[in-house]
Amino acid sequence: MQGQLDMEGALTARDRVGIQDFVLLEETTEVAFISNLKKRYSKDLIYTYIGTLLVSVNPYKELDIYNKKQMDTYMGVNFFELPPHIYALADNAYHTMLTEFNNHFILISGESGAGKTEASKKILQFYAVSCPSTTLMSTVRDKMLMSNPVLEAFGNAKTLKNNNSSRFGKYMDIQFDSQGDAVGGHILNYLLEKSRVVHQNHGERNFHIFYQLVEGASDNLLQQLGLERDCQHYNYLTQGECATVPSINDKNDWKSVKNALQVIEFDEINTKYLFEVVASVLHLGNVQFDTGNKDQALLNDNTELQWVSKLLGVDAQSLQEELTFRKIEAKWEQVLSPFTTDHAIYARDALAKAIYGQTFTWLVHRINESTENKDASQKTVIGLLDIYGFEVFYVNSFEQFCINYCNEKLQQLFIQLTLKAEQEEYEAEGIEWETVQFFNNKIICDLVEEKHRGIISLLDEECLRPGDATDLTFLERLEEKMGNHPHFVTHRLADINTRRTLERGDFRLLHYAGEVTYCVVGFLDKNNDLLYRNIKDLMCQSKNAIVSECFSNMDRGNKRRPETVATQFKSSLLKLTEMLVAKQAWYIRCLKSNESKQPGQFDEALIRHQVKYLGLMEHLRVRRAGFAYRRKYEDFLKRYKPLCPATWPHWRGFPSDGVEVLVQHLGYLPDEYKMGRTKIFIRHPRTLYATEDAYERCKHELATRLQAKYKGYKAKGEFRKQKEAATKIESCWRGTQARKEREKREWAIKVIKKFINGYLNRGEAKTTDNSEYLAFVRQGYLNRLRGNLPKTVLDKTTWLTPPSVVKETSEILRKLHYRLMVRKYVRGLTPQRKAQLQMKLVTSTIFKGNKDSYPQSVPQPFLDTRISDQEINPKVLQMIRNERIKYSVPVIKYDRNGFKPRPRQLILTQTAAYLIEESKVKQRLPYTSLKGISVSNLTDGIIVLHNSSENPKQKGDLVIQCDHLYEFLTKLCIIANKQNAVQIVQGSIKIEIQAGKESAVNFSTGQEPMVYKAKNGHLTVVATRARVR
Ligand SMILES: Nc1ncnc2c1ncn2[C@@H]1O[C@H](COP(=O)(O)OP(=O)(O)OP(=O)(O)O)[C@@H](O)[C@H]1O
Ligand SMILES: [Mg+2]
Repeated sequence: MQGQLDMEGALTARDRVGIQDFVLLEETTEVAFISNLKKRYSKDLIYTYIGTLLVSVNPYKELDIYNKKQMDTYMGVNFFELPPHIYALADNAYHTMLTEFNNHFILISGESGAGKTEASKKILQFYAVSCPSTTLMSTVRDKMLMSNPVLEAFGNAKTLKNNNSSRFGKYMDIQFDSQGDAVGGHILNYLLEKSRVVHQNHGERNFHIFYQLVEGASDNLLQQLGLERDCQHYNYLTQGECATVPSINDKNDWKSVKNALQVIEFDEINTKYLFEVVASVLHLGNVQFDTGNKDQALLNDNTELQWVSKLLGVDAQSLQEELTFRKIEAKWEQVLSPFTTDHAIYARDALAKAIYGQTFTWLVHRINESTENKDASQKTVIGLLDIYGFEVFYVNSFEQFCINYCNEKLQQLFIQLTLKAEQEEYEAEGIEWETVQFFNNKIICDLVEEKHRGIISLLDEECLRPGDATDLTFLERLEEKMGNHPHFVTHRLADINTRRTLERGDFRLLHYAGEVTYCVVGFLDKNNDLLYRNIKDLMCQSKNAIVSECFSNMDRGNKRRPETVATQFKSSLLKLTEMLVAKQAWYIRCLKSNESKQPGQFDEALIRHQVKYLGLMEHLRVRRAGFAYRRKYEDFLKRYKPLCPATWPHWRGFPSDGVEVLVQHLGYLPDEYKMGRTKIFIRHPRTLYATEDAYERCKHELATRLQAKYKGYKAKGEFRKQKEAATKIESCWRGTQARKEREKREWAIKVIKKFINGYLNRGEAKTTDNSEYLAFVRQGYLNRLRGNLPKTVLDKTTWLTPPSVVKETSEILRKLHYRLMVRKYVRGLTPQRKAQLQMKLVTSTIFKGNKDSYPQSVPQPFLDTRISDQEINPKVLQMIRNERIKYSVPVIKYDRNGFKPRPRQLILTQTAAYLIEESKVKQRLPYTSLKGISVSNLTDGIIVLHNSSENPKQKGDLVIQCDHLYEFLTKLCIIANKQNAVQIVQGSIKIEIQAGKESAVNFSTGQEPMVYKAKNGHLTVVATRARVR
């Protein structure tokens, strides 16, 4: 997923920061090329492709693009789908090797300091992490990785161009088995710049290992080696006057080297020998000769020589002899001829160089032994070629000549292979193509290496010919033979202008990468690389195993004069190219961004120069010759198939047909593309851009569609799952329910059977069934009864009729229930209410069933009084103050004479009833003289109070009408204790108006209530019929 995101980011980044592949550049001008490089470089995008070639610009700073995450991102991903990276190239080579099961190599080229060694290390690290591994493999892998610090310590040095300049050529094969496991490695080393051991230009250093040893070794080790911890003490370390360099930490590097030596399984003794060799070289450098006598070399002091002999395990005396005398083999005897001081110095330096050079080769062999894979099964390899880069110094010597020649050869290889590959591709695909003009540096290679005519041949001739050959005679020979070669010039051959820039001892070659002026001084010597035979023999006897082994090997079986250095180098390069041609090539072109090793500086002129000589523009043009872009049908279809409905989501036919349909759909014009045998070739970058842009747009739509589909699919899946779950739960539930139901029914059947049985035998002798039935009946009745109990005492009808078995119980219960209700009712009564009810009881006893208006009166509550004390005249109150007023009520009194109605107040005290008119007591009727009370049976309020006629004070019977008849009479009866005095009469009540004079009150019913005096002199009362009885 992350890879996907990066990929998309990268595709959009294409527009933002230049172009990731120069092939897609609209304009193939140098300006556009460099501007694109610069744009990317400014954003720390140091890698750009030209097709599958990787252009890398040295950032001179650590970039966070080599971490494990980046490695993972690039592993197994299609080359063009991610931003350019060295990992992409490494991964692509690896996967091609695995699928095609063939050998590959990665040619890393560029001038000194351009980043070749760094690049090769990055690739190695990538393989170390990305290839599958087993424990065994990982040790091989560690050894290969760790060979780097060791070889760099011994073979790299600070030069003016590069603080870690490779001073030897290195070709490393990484061997893979058919599973893709890295199972072994092999290193070929090429011509170490040995002269550095004894001489360094100003501003340069010797090989790192010397400084590392002096700075980093323990005191103990230094002591054993007779060394002091001071680089300044050693002649071989001080010529460049820059023993310490800020960016190099020799102490730390020493630790890394020591650790690396352990990983590559250097045992203690070998490690000891190795450091003894290094130390012996330092001591040799300090062996000084007396300058007083130039003709005979004499040792100044033999302490240093003693150390050398000790460290190398050779006899000190012999060593001294070999360094100061030449042994001439005469017929019968050996003659010792003393060296001149110069000769002695020469011999000393030659020895130092030889020891160091041989040890370096030994080191490579040891590493190879340690990483060798002895398994005979077939393997494929990826070779990494990291050679010293093209370099031009102020003074260039034999070493630069070799280095630059080597670069020239590699450039030639590059030209051949790229052209060849391209041509083969077009041929293989059956596509016509046009040749692109490019500078072929064969002419320079020939100039250097041609048999009998090349510079190397002439040099060899000079070295071998008898007579006084010198560097200058060599130069003359060159001038003679190369006189009019367009790429060769010397002071003598040059025109006036050029001559000014040349010394007499110089020759200049116009290399592919620029002009280099070589100073011939030392060419012959260095080419000869002679070491006096006797010294060699002495070294063969060395007790230091490395030295004796190296020197014994040197001469084995070869008494002939050994091949010169240049010729050896030439043939080793020839072998190398032969080997490389048989492999599939991948290229990394490293560019140096500036001369001052500064980050962020993009020196356009410098870059332009490199772009030119590395032939990048030509390469680009060749790549674009005719067709800017090509892709295998399968890959093209895979990427762009969403753009055409016919190819999306699957194309079932041949990929080529699918691509044809696709490009037709995209509207490619016939001359915009060609269909090869396995690939489609697209002529213009813009066509691919348009397709890529369409793809970008489509990707979003597709993503949405895919998302929607996926979401739908997910949701459906989820739904189906839920549905299945629901069905399962449902069926389980149904099953459970059904089982429960069945159990219930079974139970019900039993119960019903029992019930019926019980019912049928209910009258029989007691059995379980019938007693259960009866219990059920009882319980059922009681349960029903509980819900239907009468709510009030008065409710006599709701009691449930009991089945016969519980009749008795029911009756008891009914009684109990009523008693309970009564009890509750009674308990709930207030004293007032109780008094009221007691009064009502009295009323009921008197009137119930006797007077028509009684039922209406029942709900009317009795009040304590109908007239308050305030409403009674105070005089009256004063008059009856001795008697407590029990009750007062307004009444209408009918006169005895004529029955005129008069409103009066009637007051009941404990002892008498008073008839009051305003402030006057009209009549006092003591209860004792109350003979009777008569009322009608109708709905009227007429009351007759019969007075005892014995009392002469009394005025006769009192006829009154009272609206609160029942209340008044009840109170009166209670107060006067006259319950039995009330008479309820029908039709007429006799009254005594005065003693002996009688009249009557006649009652009848009618429409309207009326009270009047009838003609017969009686009081006639018409009552309405009572509506409710
Ligand atoms: N990818 C990189 N990232 C960071 N720094 C780099 C990178 N490549 C090169 N450098 C810097 O540039 C310096 C020189 O690089 P390197 O030693 O690889 O050059 P070279 O091409 O091998 O030169 P020579 O031909 O002299 O051996 C390194 O020491 C390092 O400081
Ligand atoms: Mg290098």
